[in-house]
Amino acid sequence: MPDTTADASVDNSRRNWIAITCGAGAVGGVAVAVPFVSSLAPSERARAAGAPVQVDIGAIQPGEKLTVEWRGKPVWIVRRTPEQLAALPKVDALLADPNSQRKPDELTPEYARNEHRSIKPEVLVAVGICSHLGCSPSDKFQPGAQPSLPDDWAGGFLCPCHGSTFDMAGRVYKNKPAPDNLEVPPHMYLSDTRLLIGEDKKA
Ligand code: FES
Repeated sequence: MPDTTADASVDNSRRNWIAITCGAGAVGGVAVAVPFVSSLAPSERARAAGAPVQVDIGAIQPGEKLTVEWRGKPVWIVRRTPEQLAALPKVDALLADPNSQRKPDELTPEYARNEHRSIKPEVLVAVGICSHLGCSPSDKFQPGAQPSLPDDWAGGFLCPCHGSTFDMAGRVYKNKPAPDNLEVPPHMYLSDTRLLIGEDKKA
């Protein structure tokens, strides 16, 4: 199981995104790590709300996604397959912001402003909240024709609320309600398999 430090914005915000996700039938991935900190004192909860979260990503297999909570938001960690990585440049022309140039300070840290939007090419780290009205998109990793998606679907995410689609790097497709790519949160590797979400500089 991943080892996460407590994050507590927990109560309301966590319930909100879990409710949205469940309502959309979109729970996916290998596990959902939700730290429970309701037993903490209010001051401890407030401190934990902004704390970075440590995650062991060693057990995530290619093609799988792990969801952890950071600041009350779902953060996805996806270990992409070689095929999923190879598909990324092929959809550039269909995307609204293929080079992550919009709101870079908010959405894409400098170390993720590349084709795969990540530090390690295979590991995507992204906040799973649609940039339209805040629903949590569903995993649609399987390429090819399927309901609500184009016949040449390359794999990615579908927001069930109003149909926005994102590729396997969280980049939004053109002409969709969502204006922007999914946010890549600040993060860094503490070791090959240990990720820190919420901080990207060594103290
Ligand atoms: S909230 Fe995602 S498309 Fe509207």
